[in-house]
Amino acid sequence: MKLGVVILAAGQGTRMKSALPKVLHPLAEKPLLGHVIDTARGTGADRIAVVYGHGGERVPDCFPDPDLVWVEQAQQLGTGHAAEQALPAMAGMDRILVLYGDVPLIGNETLDALLKAGEESPLVLLTVTLANPTGYGRIVRDDSFNIRRIVEQKDAAPEVLALNEINTGIMLVDGPKLGNWIARLDNDNAQGEYYLTDIVAMAVAEGTKVQSAQPKDEFEVMGVNDKAQLAQMERHLQLIRAKSLMRSGVTLRDPARFDLRGSLTAGRDVELDINVVIAGDVVLGNDVKIGANTVIRNSRIGSSVLIFENCVIDNAVVGDGCQIGPFARLRPDAELAANVRVGNFVEIKKSQVDEGSKINHLSYIGDCSIGKAVNVGAGTITCNYDGVNKYRTVIEDRAFIGSDTQLVAPVKVGAGAMVGAGSTITKDVPPDSLALSRAKQIGRVGWKRPQKK
Ligand code: UD1
Ligand code: CA
Repeated sequence: MKLGVVILAAGQGTRMKSALPKVLHPLAEKPLLGHVIDTARGTGADRIAVVYGHGGERVPDCFPDPDLVWVEQAQQLGTGHAAEQALPAMAGMDRILVLYGDVPLIGNETLDALLKAGEESPLVLLTVTLANPTGYGRIVRDDSFNIRRIVEQKDAAPEVLALNEINTGIMLVDGPKLGNWIARLDNDNAQGEYYLTDIVAMAVAEGTKVQSAQPKDEFEVMGVNDKAQLAQMERHLQLIRAKSLMRSGVTLRDPARFDLRGSLTAGRDVELDINVVIAGDVVLGNDVKIGANTVIRNSRIGSSVLIFENCVIDNAVVGDGCQIGPFARLRPDAELAANVRVGNFVEIKKSQVDEGSKINHLSYIGDCSIGKAVNVGAGTITCNYDGVNKYRTVIEDRAFIGSDTQLVAPVKVGAGAMVGAGSTITKDVPPDSLALSRAKQIGRVGWKRPQKK
């Protein structure tokens, strides 16, 4: 049995009031459509087709993955017309699952239930009963509770509007039958659209028993139509993620003030204070404590690491036992070995810092290799850029860089060397030597300060 998935994503999304196509708006930093595509892949589908239209090539351009078939629907003439465009791409599929690009939280467990029900019926609808069904297509059943048809809000008589069971739009259809049914759709309705939902009455007329399944959680079938719904969905998704992390043993000071916009692998006894944002792929070792207001993206943090408040860590590697911040910034390719200390207002980019070294205050370290047990004094700056090219600085083991030093790269400070505070180092410093470039201090005993005239 071959399974195809058709994702309808051609609609405009006027209420988002945005130049960005609706399905590209991010939920937890991933486009709405990206969530649906990932879930579609999770069904083990043999083929996935996405119907796009509004927003043009911007939509497919966002997903260069070779497993997706892109089908353009130039004019949005309705869900039936959209599905029709995908039929050639679905040739040979025994069953076709229809998903919506703007219904991002649909889950694989729910779809499994739909697929299971599909073993008994050529047409299964995902339906849900809502206290307020306004706007949705209503599921009309007969006295024996058999589904008869779907009636859209705009076409519904008052007794139909009173029904609370609605069509989520997600359905599983027999492949060959879908083609036959779609060929017979018309647009003779209140909106002048080709309604995919009209296939239900056709199936019933043929004597087919239409089945239904229900989602595990109402949020799974909620669509995003405006920014308020997008925000509501974001909070819901974040709470699901927070709860799942807490179940796995992570301590969150406040699950309502935690954001996971990617994937997090955390060891034992990890504690996250409020407003921690984790993005991309992040790995935290055991006993990691992260202070409030810290953002970590695509980084690997070792065990027993303390990250104090207000740090930004991006594409960096932090070894075991390091202490970072508060107010530190690790930029891409910052690699800290074990037991390194990076203090406040320190920025590190494309640099390796070896075991036990300290950069505790107000420094810029860029394109630099720092050996073991080095002490970098407050206000040290690597001058790595001449306006055109970048150059490297090398600081060998046990060197001591006095405060307020500028290291004009390319330059090397040898092992065990000492640089006096306030120096501008332009030449290599030999190992175990002293380098000092500051002007000599002068003194005038009895000097009088200027007086106001
Ligand atoms: C549709 C269903 C309705 C259901 C509701 C659930 C029909 C006729 N109605 O209504 O029963 O309760 O969804 O949200 O199917 N799309 C296209 N091309 C088009 C039209 C739509 O790709 O020409 C896509 C949209 O981008 C969207 C989805 O299909 O992802 C649903 O379209 P939308 O206009 O929201 O459908 P509704 O009228 O709300
Ligand atoms: Ca809709």
